Amino acid sequence: MAPSVAEIVPVTIDSDTSVDNVTLLKKHSLDKSSVVSAELKKDDGPLFPFYYPHFDNTEKHVDAGSRADPAKPHLLATATTENLTPYIGTEIKGVQISQLNQEGLDELALYAAERKVLVFRDQDFKDLGPDRQVEIAKHFGPIQLHPTSGNVKGYPEFHVVYRDGQHNRFEEYGGSNRLSKTQWHSDVTYEKQPPCTTFFFSLEQPPNSGGDTLFASQVEAYNRLSPGFQQRLEGLRAVHSAVHQADFSRKRNDPVRRGPIETSHPVVRKHPVTGEKALFVNPGFTRYIEGYKQEESDNLLRFLFDHIARGADFQIRATYKPNTVVVWDNRVTVHSATNDFPSKVRRHAVRLTPQGEIPIPA
Ligand SMILES: [Fe+2]
Repeated sequence: MAPSVAEIVPVTIDSDTSVDNVTLLKKHSLDKSSVVSAELKKDDGPLFPFYYPHFDNTEKHVDAGSRADPAKPHLLATATTENLTPYIGTEIKGVQISQLNQEGLDELALYAAERKVLVFRDQDFKDLGPDRQVEIAKHFGPIQLHPTSGNVKGYPEFHVVYRDGQHNRFEEYGGSNRLSKTQWHSDVTYEKQPPCTTFFFSLEQPPNSGGDTLFASQVEAYNRLSPGFQQRLEGLRAVHSAVHQADFSRKRNDPVRRGPIETSHPVVRKHPVTGEKALFVNPGFTRYIEGYKQEESDNLLRFLFDHIARGADFQIRATYKPNTVVVWDNRVTVHSATNDFPSKVRRHAVRLTPQGEIPIPA
């Protein structure tokens, strides 16, 4: 008969403990004379306590920003900051993300939520190596493993953005026969738990200019709407789909590591830490409003997409220099790459995409 929890002998396990040692630890804990007995009592617990089923209700997403000191002393003590615009975007110098302690990383999450986008200059982040990079990003949530995009060999946590004279996946994805290549989206919003504090570090950028990332504040996009319209949107849900992305990958004979999913999310979500309400629809992944007739859904989404795209007074361009790391909160922003540099110029960057909470309806 399986033992009760109360009958299990507690075993302290640190990260260096191998499974063999765990088994040994268990045996030692049962038999102080260190003689491994083949006649262990059945109610002494499993032979492999390391694998005893573990249930922890605290494993749900707790946002790093919720633990942060609002004054952000660990993040900003040595930093200089400059707001790029009133509603969105701050450039930060004088602090290394790699040197932040746990409190500093918590404060980074809060600051990203408040300012929507943080542009860190002069970072050593790209030189830290993949293990440390992943470790830092994991502070904010489990890393999303992209179902279709290029990653780094041995490191599925990375999403690689790469373009040169031979490769231009971005243009192919959006279609080349278009006036504008702008593709507003929030990353992988088809996930049940879409991303939160997201890291994007530049390896190579066009030498003079080009390849910026456009960002828009979905909080200000919401705030601009009239109260009656805001009320109409709250309570609505929209479906976000990974199907187009998977189809694109299949056509190229690229991998589809898991079948495409479609997920219903609130049209207006509330940030778990700041409490700000934000539009949560984007033309990249949002397909229809649940419960609406097609024309109603198409027209409402078209209006919202146009409103976001035209909001030049709540948008920024994040620019890249060598050693720039851009951090944004995917819950309260949309963004688009700009495909405005010569075709033979290389642009190379990497994203780490921690997943946040199930979106909270406003
Ligand atoms: Fe993106």
